[in-house]
Amino acid sequence: MSEIKYKIIGRKYADALKHLMMTVMGALENPAFFIPYSNAEMNDMFSDDHILVGAFDDKKLVGFSLVVMVGNIGDWDGSMTAPEYRGCGIMSETFRRCMAIARKSGIKKIFARAHPDNIASINGVKKNGFIEKEKTEWDGQPRILFELVL
Ligand SMILES: CC(C)(COP(=O)(O)OP(=O)(O)OC[C@H]1O[C@@H](n2cnc3c(N)ncnc32)[C@H](O)[C@@H]1OP(=O)(O)O)[C@@H](O)C(=O)NCCC(=O)NCCS
Repeated sequence: MSEIKYKIIGRKYADALKHLMMTVMGALENPAFFIPYSNAEMNDMFSDDHILVGAFDDKKLVGFSLVVMVGNIGDWDGSMTAPEYRGCGIMSETFRRCMAIARKSGIKKIFARAHPDNIASINGVKKNGFIEKEKTEWDGQPRILFELVL
């Protein structure tokens, strides 16, 4: 593994993103941990109100975080790290970069959701300063809602 580099991902990385998503989704401990993005959501990821930061090992996309902005509210709409790159801080770093951009864009609060059994996700959001708000549902699946005030 070379030094991991981080940058905003544009549309030219759409295929690399799909490849990473398929790898991660295929290896999920529980399919309910990550509800797949629809085609419309995939397309929207590259628009101005979305912050999409990728992690690269040389030219290979190995992780990303996505934050969607609506008014002055942000929504952490997912993170994935390729299995062999986990535990190296990639999710935290991609998210921190999204958060810095969100703050500059006037975002005051970011919400995040995690499946109650998705320990990596729950620990990750808490480690990044999120506070648990309530139990909720997302697409019929249980979720914990977290909030981070910027
Ligand atoms: C969740 C996921 C993105 C974490 O990616 P990662 O790059 O390994 O995470 P990081 O290395 O940045 O870890 C950040 C923090 O999360 C927590 N964490 C990450 N993986 C963990 C695990 N397997 N068990 C417990 N805590 C974990 C830790 O608190 C960690 O901080 P620390 O290393 O200082 O203890 C990754 O496991 C993944 O892609 N999972 C499948 C997709 C998914 O469930 N995404 C989240 C739902 S949106």
